Amino acid sequence: MADFPEDVPPVPGIDVTRPHAARMYDYGLGGKNHFAADRAVADQVLAVMPTARTVARENRKFVGRAVRYLAKEAGIRQFLDIGSGLPATGNVHEVAQAVAPQARVVYVDNDPLVLVHARVLLESAPEGQTGYIEDDLRDPASILDSQVTREILDFSQPVALVLGAVLHFLPDDGEVAQIVATLLDALRPGSYLIASHATSEHVPPGQAEAALRSYRASGIPFQPRDSGDFARLAFNGLDLVPPGVVLVSEWRPAHDGPRPSASEVNCYGAVARKPR
Ligand SMILES: C[S@@+](CC[C@H](N)C(=O)[O-])C[C@H]1O[C@@H](n2cnc3c(N)ncnc32)[C@H](O)[C@@H]1O
Repeated sequence: MADFPEDVPPVPGIDVTRPHAARMYDYGLGGKNHFAADRAVADQVLAVMPTARTVARENRKFVGRAVRYLAKEAGIRQFLDIGSGLPATGNVHEVAQAVAPQARVVYVDNDPLVLVHARVLLESAPEGQTGYIEDDLRDPASILDSQVTREILDFSQPVALVLGAVLHFLPDDGEVAQIVATLLDALRPGSYLIASHATSEHVPPGQAEAALRSYRASGIPFQPRDSGDFARLAFNGLDLVPPGVVLVSEWRPAHDGPRPSASEVNCYGAVARKPR
């Protein structure tokens, strides 16, 4: 692994021998915060699905465009980003505060390594505020009740919930629907949901299954879903912002130039508003 020195010194409480989704994603995006165990599984996935890096990049760009849209066009000033990932290009507060320096962002992730790098996520514009919680999406009440969340976000005002490429780590459909409902219940009408989700709809069946086997064999639960299931589980009862649930690369693209094909993107995304 000469090409990839262990950039991150071992940190107490972090098991570097077990792969983690946040570090695999960081590897896919070309970041530096991953270990041999993360790269081994990511390379297995890349071997059967060479477009996996495109998935990560296109998803990241979608999240950025969606956050900018809500800050600029919908006047949203508060974001709750769960499954935020390791700091990367276009962290939510950087995108939102470029439009509105007073924007406030709470980041949540369950990988303890994110906390080690959270300083980047906490470098807020002085007019705004950011916070970080190490917590689990499967315990939405804990996230909502956290002192950090309550201090930074004002729930009497609209909040954008950001669930970027995280729901596919929850294999149980019922659990996904319940978690999304609990989080949205806490938000006032006029709030928004940004979500994206991996799909295997556009890859040959053998390829998707081989990639899934690599994830699951490494202890990372992974459940791709088709666009209908994603829409039903995440956006039930919400008003979808046009163009609705589409490949992330097709959601209000930044340019008219050529974009990757569906079989390279393999990820759906949408933005929706909680009705009044
Ligand atoms: C693919 S990355 C996406 C990062 C970022 N949201 C984006 O879209 O660019 C998924 C992130 O979700 C986190 N994650 C996975 N399961 C989680 C859970 N149950 N609770 C909190 N975070 C979770 C992983 O640690 C990882 O950082």
